[in-house]
Amino acid sequence: MQNKNAFVFEHPLIQHKLSLMRNKETSTKDFRELVDEVSMLMAYEVTRDLKLTDVEIETPIAKMTAKMLADRQIVLVPILRAGLGMVSGIQKLIPTAKVGHIGLYRDPDTHLPVEYYSKMPADLDKSTVIVVDPMFATGGSATAAIELLKAKGASDLRLVCIIAAQPAIDRMSAEHPDVPIFCGAVDDHLNENDYIVPGLGDAGDRIFGTK
Ligand code: PRP
Ligand code: URA
Repeated sequence: MQNKNAFVFEHPLIQHKLSLMRNKETSTKDFRELVDEVSMLMAYEVTRDLKLTDVEIETPIAKMTAKMLADRQIVLVPILRAGLGMVSGIQKLIPTAKVGHIGLYRDPDTHLPVEYYSKMPADLDKSTVIVVDPMFATGGSATAAIELLKAKGASDLRLVCIIAAQPAIDRMSAEHPDVPIFCGAVDDHLNENDYIVPGLGDAGDRIFGTK
């Protein structure tokens, strides 16, 4: 790995499911289910550093001091629309997480992100914010999302994607070195349309069955 901020999930279950997702023969239904499963598996590692606190409880046998998650708000921020596919898998592990939405699409000509929607929960400055988007190609969309979230007060941020391309990692590391990146693979390069090669195609289309 060429970047100290980037963590690649080497777990065999994630790698196997990622290969199924890459296969162009995989159906929309299967693709959506795989995004859900991979996102849930990723949530386990992405939350490894969450703080615990001691609480007094009573088991059927005895009183004890047990560990529970400290009362810090976790906010999931999917970048619409493909990021939506990653929310429910993570929510299975963190059901109390709030969800903020950022609508961005890449302009087909300039490939630059265009913002069309933003709705965030309160107290972003006191929250652990997890931005999710399956594809991290030029990095334009994710860096725009991080900028928007920082402008709204967020400082404890992390990005979770399924496939990252090296140019995007380099860009995020230069512009936001404080934001760790978690991904299933780092692919080589982008094509002339700024799609990740080999990648998995258009994640939004494959999740929602458009095209
Ligand atoms: C895709 C993807 C990311 C973005 C990645 O979204 O889900 O948001 O492109 O590319 P970048 O790193 O070069 O910005 P897209 O613009 O296709 O919109 P969609 O999710 O609505 O399909
Ligand atoms: N968006 C996608 O959905 N796929 C890519 O490879 C790049 C951007």
